[in-house]
Order: sequence, then structure tokens, then C-alpha cells
Amino acid sequence: MKVDSSYTRLLDFLEKHAGRKPVSFHMPGHKGSGIFRRYGYDAFLENLMDMDVTEIPGADNLFATEGVLKELQERYARLYGARRSWLMVNGTSGALIASILATVPRGGKIIMSRNCHKSVFNGVRLAGAIPVYARPELMTEYGISGQVTRSEIRRCVAENPDAAAILITSPNYYGICSDIAAIAEIAREAGMILIVDQAHGAHLKFFRGHSSAEEQGADIVTNSTHKTLASMTQSAILNLCTDRVSPEIIEEQLQVMESSSPSYVLMASLDINARIVEDHGGEVFGEWQENLEYFYGEAAKIPGLTLIGMDPETGATKYPFDPTKINIDFGIHGLELEEELNRRGIFPELITGNILMCMTGIGNTRADYDALLAALREIGKERAAAPKLQSRFAQASAASNAQPLPGKLHAVPTSHRKIKLSDAAGCVCAVSIIPYPPGSPLVCPGEEITPEIIDYVKLLKERGEKVMGIDANWEITVGVEE
Ligand SMILES: Cc1ncc(COP(=O)(O)O)c(C=O)c1O
Repeated sequence: MKVDSSYTRLLDFLEKHAGRKPVSFHMPGHKGSGIFRRYGYDAFLENLMDMDVTEIPGADNLFATEGVLKELQERYARLYGARRSWLMVNGTSGALIASILATVPRGGKIIMSRNCHKSVFNGVRLAGAIPVYARPELMTEYGISGQVTRSEIRRCVAENPDAAAILITSPNYYGICSDIAAIAEIAREAGMILIVDQAHGAHLKFFRGHSSAEEQGADIVTNSTHKTLASMTQSAILNLCTDRVSPEIIEEQLQVMESSSPSYVLMASLDINARIVEDHGGEVFGEWQENLEYFYGEAAKIPGLTLIGMDPETGATKYPFDPTKINIDFGIHGLELEEELNRRGIFPELITGNILMCMTGIGNTRADYDALLAALREIGKERAAAPKLQSRFAQASAASNAQPLPGKLHAVPTSHRKIKLSDAAGCVCAVSIIPYPPGSPLVCPGEEITPEIIDYVKLLKERGEKVMGIDANWEITVGVEE
């Protein structure tokens, strides 16, 4: 299958794409209608438009729940073992911003991992909070960020005992988890609220041999159920697991962040997701884990292919790892591997240099894993037959994947101008520069642009990777000195 970028109209593109029955290793986790049909939710699929209602009698009100939405939120609280759960209609992004607004006072400090999603940086700006960055470990063999260690959190807490909260992403974009239990203990001792961005780990509570941030003692946990479970894109669940934060304050900030017309279709998909987990959890999560074990075992036999994160022979990992993220390194640029997979009707989630990440979800079937294995075997054979084939993309080394840090922090500029990237050293960033995916900012407004940042952005662009905040003329927006 060839990727077709010739469509000028959205619906035409989506209809054609759906008609091709693609194999999805990207978000959302439901992977299409199959899982809804498997468990008898055909009526939902057939009546989508008629279920798109508003707060009519009987439909309850998301911001003053007392009926069907209250019941659903209570079911989620039971599923995750939380004190309170809220249905989200603008994803984990909204849940994170509301959590920051609810826990960090204006001018207060928040300790956050530097590899957080852009919504965290946005929340910190909206809250008028001061970020203190915890550096995640660098996995030098791949140049990607790993876990945030307890010693790094201890250091940040010791240097900033006045911080109000700690915010960690776990699992990260590659499935690497941090020791939340240890970090929760440090947070409790220091009297700080621990917020865990578990956008990628909504399934961990239900996976054999894994544990969720809720179980490990985090105070607030955000779950993008749409990323790995069965609800629709933009739906998510926010869990409050502590009595140290007032549910009323969380609810107040959720109202600030969310549409006053929450989609009943999205919320209905959250109901279906909860029912699938409640009624068929043993079956679906058991199958998912079996499929992953099968995949890792078979993929390990493919010559030249490296799977990051897990030793396929022993299943051992050097750190807590969520195996639902399949990170593949075939020794070629990830964009090239992506093209090869796209040609075969398979669509992965993200690329970092040579690493291509396939994101599995509750809706993937054994046939999907077999299709991916067959494609990888074929690509392996083709590469072995033509080893001298020139790559069209700049090759990525592990060292070149490592993100440099921005320079000094200034006030966020109020007057702006456009400038060539190559002339921007020493300027103050006015519009975030964000490699996307995964969406973790390289430079935020107020941060100084260094020569290393410029070289790194050039490298990403030359490698064909997407970078938000730089236009087609390679210009960026910086502050004007006043
Ligand atoms: C680590 C992380 N956190 C938060 C988000 C935002 O989640 P959502 O898309 O549910 O708003 C993302 C989205 O990709 C993410 O990767």
C-alpha cells in the first residue's frame, strides 16, 4: 500500500484510509470498530449521530454529576482503586493542566521531568508556576530519555523544599517507567503532591506483573484511555488517589479547562471501555500479553533487528518497562522503515532517529502482530540482499538522538519577531520548538536558544522529522529586546 498524500479533503482521505483496512500500531488503542463488534456494541457504532446529545433529562451533567455520569465515574474509581475519577473529553492534556492549576499556587514551584509532554509546560505557564527540571536518565546506547531516578528527585526536593508538587511522566513515550513507589515516598515525606502523567499506561493496572501509578502511591494520575484502551480519541480518565487535594478544587479547574459541551459520544465510549475491562478484562488483557510475548519471541529471530527495552530471550529489562510499546531499530532511519511498513499497510506511532515505535493497544489482534512480523521479515531479507543501498535520510546515531538543554531562563517575551534559525543563538524563544511526536518541548518561551539547540533542530529537519515552531523557511519566533 502506498501512502497517499494527494487528498485535499479530509473526509475523502479518511474514507479511503478506513477502506484499506490498515494495520494500526498507532493511537487510538481500540484500533477501529473490531473490538466494539467483538463485545456486542454494534448499536453504538450504528447510532453514533443519534447519541450525540446534550444535557437532556436523564443524560446528567459532567460538571454537576448526579446520575449516569456519576455512576460511570464511580465505576472508574473502583476499576483504578481511586478515591475519585473524572471523565475527560479533552484528553490527558486537559487533565494535566487542571491538576497543575489545582495544586501549584501562582508563583509556586513544581518539580517536573524535562521530557514532559507539552501540555505540562502549558499548564505550568497558565498556573504562573516556576518549573524546576528533573533530568531523566539518558539511555546512551539509543540516545533516548529513560527513567527519572529517585536520586534525581531527591536532589530536586533537597534544593527546592518549597516546591508544591512533583510531576513525572511514566511510562514515557518508549514505555520506560520510573520507580513511582519510591518517588511517592519522597513526595509524601516532603509534603509535596505527586502527579503522574500515565497517559501511556492506562492499561498497567490490568496487566499481569505490572503496577500502576495509582497502586504505587501517586496522588493524582492521568490516563489516556484512548491511547491504549478502547475509548475514543480525546477521552481520558483523571484519578484522584489522595485526601491531600480537594476534589472540589480539581472539579473547579476541570470546568476551566474543558468544553461546556462535553461530547456524549466520547463519554459513551468511556462507558463501553469500562464495560469491556469489567466484563472481559481477563480475556482481553490475557490475549494482549500473550500476543506481545509471541511477538517479542518471533521478532528476536529476525537478523539485524534490535528491540529496545526488553531482552527477547529472557524477557528481562534493565528498568521497569511497559512492553506494549514495541521499539524497533533495524539499523536504518526510522522514516525509511516507516515507509516500508506503510507500503505494506502498517502504520506505526513515532520515530526517533533509527528507532521506530509501534504502539500496541487493546484492539490489536494476533493477525496484526503477524502482519508486522511478516513485514519485518521481508524488509530484513530485502536489506540483506541489497546491503549497499544508500539511505535517503541522514543516518541517526545514538548520540545524535540526545536532546540538548536550552540556555538561561528569561521572562516570556511580549514582543516578537521572526528570525532564521541559524541566526537565533542567544535569542529568547517566544514560540515553543517541539519535535513531534512525541511532543516534549525542546525550548519553551522565555528560554534562551543555544548553538547546540540550533544544530539539533537542523539535524532533526535534515533527518526529515517533524518539528513544531519552525516554518517552511526555517524561521522561528523569538522575543524582541525592549
Ligand atoms: C506523555 C504524554 N502525556 C500527555 C499526552 C497528552 O495526552 P492526550 O492526547 O490524551 O491529551 C501525551 C500525548 O501524546 C503524551 O504522549
